[in-house]
Amino acid sequence: MRQALERLEYRGYDSVGQATISDNKLILKKDKGKISEVHAKINLDDMPGSIGIAHTRWATHGAPSKENAHPHTDCDGCIAVIHNGIIENFMELRKELEDSGHSFESRTDTEAIAHLIEEAVKKGSSLPGAVIDTMRKLKGAFAIAVLSSHDPQRIVCARRESPLVIGIGEHAVYCASDVPAFLPLTNKAIWLEEDEVASLELGKVEIRALRTGEAVKRAPVDVTWTREAAEKSGYTHFMLKEIHEQPQAIRNALRTQRIYHDLVASKLDSAEAVYLIGCGTAYHACLAGSYSLAKLAGLRCQAVIASEFNHVHADLLNRNSVVVAMSQSGETADTLNAVRQSREKGASIIGVANVMGSTLTRLSDVYIGQNSGPEIGVAATKTFTAQVSVLTKLAIILAERRRTIGPEQAAHHLEKLAEVPDAVADVLQKHENKVKDIARRYKDRRSFCFLGRGISEVTAIEGRLKLLEIAYVPSLAYAAGESKHGFIAIVEPGYPVVFVAPKDETHSKIIGNIMEMKARGADVVSVIEEGDDQVRSISDDVIEMPKDIPSVMTPLIYVVPLQLLAYNIAVEKGHDPDRPRNLAKSVTVE
Ligand code: F6R
Repeated sequence: MRQALERLEYRGYDSVGQATISDNKLILKKDKGKISEVHAKINLDDMPGSIGIAHTRWATHGAPSKENAHPHTDCDGCIAVIHNGIIENFMELRKELEDSGHSFESRTDTEAIAHLIEEAVKKGSSLPGAVIDTMRKLKGAFAIAVLSSHDPQRIVCARRESPLVIGIGEHAVYCASDVPAFLPLTNKAIWLEEDEVASLELGKVEIRALRTGEAVKRAPVDVTWTREAAEKSGYTHFMLKEIHEQPQAIRNALRTQRIYHDLVASKLDSAEAVYLIGCGTAYHACLAGSYSLAKLAGLRCQAVIASEFNHVHADLLNRNSVVVAMSQSGETADTLNAVRQSREKGASIIGVANVMGSTLTRLSDVYIGQNSGPEIGVAATKTFTAQVSVLTKLAIILAERRRTIGPEQAAHHLEKLAEVPDAVADVLQKHENKVKDIARRYKDRRSFCFLGRGISEVTAIEGRLKLLEIAYVPSLAYAAGESKHGFIAIVEPGYPVVFVAPKDETHSKIIGNIMEMKARGADVVSVIEEGDDQVRSISDDVIEMPKDIPSVMTPLIYVVPLQLLAYNIAVEKGHDPDRPRNLAKSVTVE
C-alpha cells in the first residue's frame, strides 16, 4: 500500500495513514508528515492483513496533524474511512451525531462519515447499504473508501464530484483517486461515475447507482498511459490539467462554510482600514477582490503588492486595521514579511491560502482555504480563479451585511456565482480549439498588449503575466482608457492587442479603445460576450464567453481563454509550460 501511496505523492501532501484488517480486527497507523518520514517513524509496511485502505492528506478541514490524518474511525474503532473532497454540511452532521452520543477525535469533515456509517450499520444495514444511506445525507464532494471489521473481505467505495477509479488485477482489486496508484499492478481500470458506489471483493466488483439503486455493468478499459502521462490524467502538461480542473476548483473554493465568511465580513465591516496583499497572481486576485468589495459592499480597501507593503502602508496600521493576505503556498516570503510587520502593529490578519498548515495559516487570526488542491504547474491558473471566487463570495456576504444590496440580490449573486463552474466548463469545451488556432497564428509576434476596463483590467494583467511567464513574450497590460496616454505610441500595423471586453458598464468605452487600436493597424483579438456583434465587427478574432455574467464575476471566466492562449503559445514555441525558466513555485526569498 505504501508504494501505491508514494505514486500519488508527486502532488505533495501533509499526512499519511493506513488501515488493514487482520483476525477480524481493524489495525490503524497514521501520522503527520511525508510518507517517508511517517514510514521511518512507524513502519507502514508492518501491518498484517491482505485488505486495507491508505491515504495521503491535503488538508482542507483541520490543520495537518496526527488526529486529523485519515483513516478516521467510528466510536468502536471498527469502521475506517478515507476521503478526498469537502463535506459542506459536516458541522450540522457533527452536531446531530454528537447529540446522539458519538464522540469525535478530529476536526475533520471526514470523521462524520465514519459515524454516519456506524449509525446505519447499527440499525442493521450491510456495509454497502450503510454507505448508500450515508451518501444520501452528505452535501459536497467526496471520493471515499470504507473498511469494516464487521465485513472483513470487502472495501466499499463511492464518489460524488471527486474522482475514483477501480483497478482490476489478476489476483487483487484496487480503488484509488488516480490511476498512477495501481498502474504498475494493472492497467485495467473502471472509472466510477457521479453518485456511484462500488463493493470490492476478491474477484468481484459490484457497482450501483445511488439514484436508481440499480446495478451498473461497466467493462474495464485498458489504460495505455505511461506513469508520467497518468500523473497528468492524460493531459500533456500539468498546467493544462490544472486549467481544466478549474470548474471543480471553483466549486470547492465556494464550499467554505458561511460562518467563516460571516466572521471575516464582520472584521472587514468594522475595520478602519483594509488592505489586500499578495504577489504575482495572488496580487491580481487581490485587485479583483478590492474591486468587488468596493463595488458591491462599498468597502474602501486597497490592493497592495506584498513586497511594497512595508515601505509605506505598514506604518499606517493599528489595531483597527485589517490585512487580507492571499497566497496559494502560504509561504511566499514577501507576503509573510508584510503579514509579520502588520501583526506587530496590531492589525488583524485574514489569510486566504491553499496549503493548510502553511506559515500564513499559522500567522492569521482567521483563514479561509481556497481548496483548489495541489497545483504543480509553476504558473498559477486554478489558484487565480479559486482565490477570486473566495473574495467574490466574501464581497457578496459583506454587501448583504452592510445592506448595500438586499437579501434577494445577494441570493441572486450567490446563485450566479454557483453557476460559474459550469460556465468555465462550457468555455473549455467550446473554445479550446479556437484558442489553439489563434495561438498558432500569433506565436511569432514579438510583443502583445492586453487591455481591459473596470475589473477586466485585472483579467488583462493576469493574461499578460501568464504569457510572460511561460512563453517569454515581452508584453504589456493596461487599463484600456490609459492606453492612449502612452502605450499607443508603440502600436503599428500587425501589433497584437488582446481586449477583454465583456458587455458590462465599460462596454461602450472599450469600443472606443478598440477603434483607436484598429485605426493604427493593430491586430485585435477580443474576448467578448456571446452575440456581441458590435465588438465582433471591429475585431480580427473573437472568443465568445457565456451571456449574463455579472461584471464582478467576469475575471473567473474571461481569464480562461487567456490562460489557454499563453499555454498554447508556449507549447508552439517549444517551451515547457510546467517548468518556466528562472521561476519557482514558491518564492521563499525576499
Ligand atoms: C504566477 C505565479 C506567481 C505566484 C506568486 C505568489 O503564475 O505563479 O506569480 O502567484 O509567486 O505565490 P503564492 O500564491 O504561493 O504566494
